[in-house]
Amino acid sequence: MTKPNLQVALDNNTLASALADVREVGDIVDIVEAGTILILQEGTQAVKALRALFPNKTVIADTKCADAGTTVAKNMADAGADWMTCICSATIPTMKAANKEISEIQVELYGNWTQEDAQSWLDAGISQAIYHQSRDALLSGGSWGEKDLKKVKMLVDMGFRVSVTGGLNVDTLKLFEGVDVYTFIAGRAITQADNPAKAAQDLQNEIKRIWGN
Ligand code: 5RP
Repeated sequence: MTKPNLQVALDNNTLASALADVREVGDIVDIVEAGTILILQEGTQAVKALRALFPNKTVIADTKCADAGTTVAKNMADAGADWMTCICSATIPTMKAANKEISEIQVELYGNWTQEDAQSWLDAGISQAIYHQSRDALLSGGSWGEKDLKKVKMLVDMGFRVSVTGGLNVDTLKLFEGVDVYTFIAGRAITQADNPAKAAQDLQNEIKRIWGN
C-alpha cells in the first residue's frame, strides 16, 4: 500500500494569514490547497501566490465548482492550480467541461450520492473523489465511523483515488488503517495549532507509522 499524501487546506480569511501558515508547513506537507474560504475571500490571487511559493508541489483550488466548469477551471489553471474540486451535485457536463481545462478534477462528496453517481463520474473520466465530513455536520455532533469507512472502501474498490477530509487529527487517522487512502486533507488541525509545523510533522509521522514510507 502506498503512503497516503498529507495535504494542508488553507481556509484562512486573508491571503496574508494563509501565506504565514503555509510558509511554516509547506515543506512538510505533500500538497497545498487554497481552501474554499480563502478562494471566496481572495480569488485566484491565492492560487497564484501558492504556485509562486511552491513551483514543484501539487497545488489544489478547492472551488467546489457547481456550474460554469469551463470558465472556473480555466481561471484556476491559468492561476497555477493543478487540480480543482467540483461539488458532487454538479452535472456531468459541468465536470467534463472543467476536466478539459485543468489537469484533474476531484469530486467533492457531500450529502446524498449513490454508487451509480460515482460510476457516472468514473465514466466521465474523473478518477479522484474527496470523501468529506462537513465541518457543520461535525459541529452538530457527527463523527467519523464505520459508515464512512464503508463508503471510502467502496470508492477505492471502484478505482477512485480517494482523499479524506473533515476535522481530521492525529487520532482520527488510525480509523483508516488498511485502507488505500490517497490523501488525508487537514486544515484546522494544522493551521490552528500552537505549532503548525509540529502539527503537520505529527500527522506525517502518524501516516508513516500506519502506512509505512
Ligand atoms: C471545508 C473544507 C476544508 O478545507 C477541509 O475539510 C479541511 O478542513 P478541516 O481539517 O479544518 O476540517 O473543504 O469545506
